[in-house]
Amino acid sequence: MDGRDWSLFLQPYEQAVEELKVKFKTMRVELKIREAYAPIEFVTGRVKRISSILEKARRLGVAPDRLEDGIEDIAGIRIMCQFVDDIHRVAALIRTRKDLELVYEKDYITNYKDSGYRSYHIIVKYPVQTALGFKHVLAEIQIRTLAMNFWATIEHSLNYKFKESLPEDVRNRLKKAAEAAFLLDTEMTSIREEILDAQTEFEEQSNAVSRVLNGIQDLYFYHRVREAAQFQIKFNELFEQQDYHALHTLSIEIGAAIAKAKKNNQS
Ligand code: GTP
Ligand code: MG
Repeated sequence: MDGRDWSLFLQPYEQAVEELKVKFKTMRVELKIREAYAPIEFVTGRVKRISSILEKARRLGVAPDRLEDGIEDIAGIRIMCQFVDDIHRVAALIRTRKDLELVYEKDYITNYKDSGYRSYHIIVKYPVQTALGFKHVLAEIQIRTLAMNFWATIEHSLNYKFKESLPEDVRNRLKKAAEAAFLLDTEMTSIREEILDAQTEFEEQSNAVSRVLNGIQDLYFYHRVREAAQFQIKFNELFEQQDYHALHTLSIEIGAAIAKAKKNNQS
C-alpha cells in the first residue's frame, strides 16, 4: 500500500458521518414535535475501518487511488425504524433533501438477499466543507426496522466469528430467522393498523356524544324543552346500549331539529 496519510483521507468521512448523524437525529426530534410520532427510532453511524476498506478494495479490484469512487460505504449511516412503512417515509424525506445528492437506491426489502438480509440502502453524495473548500464524499444510508437490525447485527457477528464460512445448517437457520423477523414486522404493522383504527373509532364516538349533548343544550336555548327532553331520554338509552352508530344518527336528527328551531325563531 502507498504511504497514504489515512487520517487525512478519512477526515472528511468522519465529518460527513458526524454531520449526517446530527441531521437525522434532528429529523427525528422535529417529526416528533410536528406529528407526535417519529418514523425514526434511532440513528447510528461509523467510518469503515482501514482494514475493511483495504479488504473490500482488494475484493472489488478497486485501485488504491480510486477508493473515493470505488467504495461507497466508507461513510455509513444507519437509521432504525419501528415499522416497515416508516422506512419508505424516511426514504422519501431523504429524496427531497437539498443538502445531499442521491446517487442510487437498493431495495433489499423487496429484493432481499440470499442470506436473508433486508434493508433499504440509499447511496448519497454529501458535500463536506473543508478548510480547502467543498469535498464531496459518498455515504451509504441503511434504513431498516428494529427487527431487521436485530437480525443483521447477529448475522454479521456470526459471519465475523466464522470468517464467512458459516456451516450450511447455521446459514439455513439464519435464513429462517430472517423470515421470522420479517413476519414479526408484518404482524406489528397489522397490530398497529388495528390500534390506529381503534383510535379513530374512539375519536368518532366521543365526537358523536359531544355533538348530541351540545345539540340538546341548543334546543333548550331555543325553548324546545319537550324535544330536548325526548332527545335526552333517547341519548341515555343509546349511551347505555353503547350503540354509537345510532348516536351518530341521533346527532344528525338533533342537528335538523336545531335548524328548524332557528328558522322558526327568525320568523
Ligand atoms: P459489502 O457487502 O459491504 O462488501 O458491499 P457491496 O458493494 O456488496 O454492497 P451491499 O449492498 O451488498 O452491502 C452493503 C452493506 O449492507 C454491507 O456493508 C452490510 O452492512 C450490509 N449487508 C449486505 N448484505 C448483508 C448480509 O447478508 N448480512 C448483513 N449482516 N449485512 C449485510
Ligand atoms: Mg455485499
